Amino acid sequence: METSRFTLPFLLLSFSFFLSLSAQMTGNFKCGGTPSTCISLVGYSSKNATTLRNIQTLFAVKNLRTILGANNLPLNTSRDQRVNPDQVIRIPIRCSCSNGTGISNRVPEYTVKKGDDLYFIASQLFGGLTRDQRIAEVNKIPDPALIQPGQKFWIPLPCSCDKLNGQDVVHYAHVVKQGSSLGEIAALFGTDNTTLAQLNGISGDPQLLADLPLNVPLRACSSSVRNDSLDASMLLSNNSYLFTANNCVKCSCDASKNWTLSCQPSSELKPSNWTTCPPSRCEGAESLFLGNTTSGSCGPRTCAYAGYSNSSILTTLSPTCPDSAGPAGSGNYASTFRSSFNIVMVLIQCALLCLYLL
Ligand SMILES: *[C@@H]1O[C@H](CO)[C@@H](O)[C@H](O)[C@H]1NC(C)=O
Ligand SMILES: *[C@@H]1O[C@H](CO)[C@@H](O)[C@H](O)[C@H]1NC(C)=O
Ligand SMILES: *[C@@H]1O[C@H](CO)[C@@H](O)[C@H](O)[C@H]1NC(C)=O
Ligand SMILES: *[C@@H]1O[C@H](CO)[C@@H](O)[C@H](O)[C@H]1NC(C)=O
Ligand SMILES: *[C@@H]1O[C@H](CO)[C@@H](O)[C@H](O)[C@H]1NC(C)=O
Ligand SMILES: *[C@@H]1O[C@H](CO)[C@@H](O)[C@H](O)[C@H]1NC(C)=O
Ligand SMILES: *[C@@H]1O[C@H](CO)[C@@H](O)[C@H](O)[C@H]1NC(C)=O
Ligand SMILES: *[C@@H]1O[C@H](CO)[C@@H](O)[C@H](O)[C@H]1NC(C)=O
Ligand SMILES: *[C@@H]1O[C@H](CO)[C@@H](O)[C@H](O)[C@H]1NC(C)=O
Ligand SMILES: *[C@@H]1O[C@H](CO)[C@@H](O)[C@H](O)[C@H]1NC(C)=O
Repeated sequence: METSRFTLPFLLLSFSFFLSLSAQMTGNFKCGGTPSTCISLVGYSSKNATTLRNIQTLFAVKNLRTILGANNLPLNTSRDQRVNPDQVIRIPIRCSCSNGTGISNRVPEYTVKKGDDLYFIASQLFGGLTRDQRIAEVNKIPDPALIQPGQKFWIPLPCSCDKLNGQDVVHYAHVVKQGSSLGEIAALFGTDNTTLAQLNGISGDPQLLADLPLNVPLRACSSSVRNDSLDASMLLSNNSYLFTANNCVKCSCDASKNWTLSCQPSSELKPSNWTTCPPSRCEGAESLFLGNTTSGSCGPRTCAYAGYSNSSILTTLSPTCPDSAGPAGSGNYASTFRSSFNIVMVLIQCALLCLYLL
């Protein structure tokens, strides 16, 4: 079998790699704390030329626009758009965290074809994003050498929902290329080698193993989305977009816009669930709409997206004005109203009293 080809020096070499890279060798991503779900990214490159359609099918992505948005490709890009070998396509996946590990939740599913083995499926078809042992483990395959055409497996993809030093990040599974270093990868994704080493449990100055996924934290744009919104966990990394609020709002993240999420009303897609998109007037500044900017005593402020509910699109003026700005708060209007109401009541009571006295 395979092992008969190993020589002793090779075994020793593998063993020392295993020691220094043990955490990374598993290809698992840490995802700690309470069980949670989120959207995470994987970077896929096909060994042969392919199309966006094939990639969408392979990863069981419901809407092509999800892939287009993650790669900042125009919405009218064709499904049959060619993807060259080694071109990297970012694919958003739903991540599920439990027992300290993040993993795609029982998707995508793959049906074994004639001539496939688990190693080919993991390292070739899925571009090294998973490992044959992981597929065997999660599918409880008794003998990985004996798989039959027609059998269905789910492919565990690595992912994470963890914050990084308290900050929201989008985790990206980057398949390491032969000969690349932590420093190079860090520079490519706007992070640093210490962060990468820590996150992936790598110590020393190792030679990275090719064709294994590395957990890369991508900075996310800050947003004003409320934690009770139906899209509360939405996060975007640089140079990507998505549609939300039943397709009525398009949000994008552009690092050059101060890492702030930018959202506009959109009519590019048919609304889902709503027959028409509700208006997106700005709460507290009714002459403004979502995406408009105004300048006032607090400097320039934008009518920012704050999420959505079953019936409406939520907005907020951002950044928020400091409270010290004076009598503009709604609390003040209410108390003004209440005191004038009291004066009216006193006058009425006085008038009644006067009538009575007469
Ligand atoms: C997509 O739309 C843009 C304009 O928004 C247009 O310039 C371009 O030609 C279109 N591409 C395709 C493939 O239709
Ligand atoms: C998590 O760990 C518990 C107990 O250690 C185990 O019963 C459960 O199957 C594990 N879940 C997963 C998804 O591995
Ligand atoms: C790439 O194409 C070659 C030739 O058709 C085929 O043998 C190989 O299995 C393909 N690889 C993948 C990952 O599909
Ligand atoms: C990070 O990079 C610096 C210089 O580029 C190097 O000295 C250091 O050893 C690297 N650290 C790790 C953990 O790779
Ligand atoms: C949601 O945000 C509000 C304030 O905006 C805060 O009081 C509340 O604790 C938050 N809830 C959760 C579940 O984080
Ligand atoms: C953000 O993405 C753009 C377009 O790919 C790129 O030019 C820019 O360098 C990126 N900025 C950061 C800080 O990553
Ligand atoms: C950029 O955003 C930060 C907070 O995210 C804010 O404090 C700062 O004022 C912003 N800068 C500009 C120029 O808008
Ligand atoms: C919108 O409709 C889809 C099915 O078309 C459903 O899965 C989803 O839960 C609905 N969303 C809301 C917020 O009602
Ligand atoms: C405000 O936003 C609406 C909706 O996007 C847009 O039609 C309008 O032109 C904007 N007004 C200004 C002054 O920017
Ligand atoms: C929103 O819609 C969902 C599904 O249609 C429903 O279960 C939920 O009760 C609704 N929530 C509100 C606040 O109306």
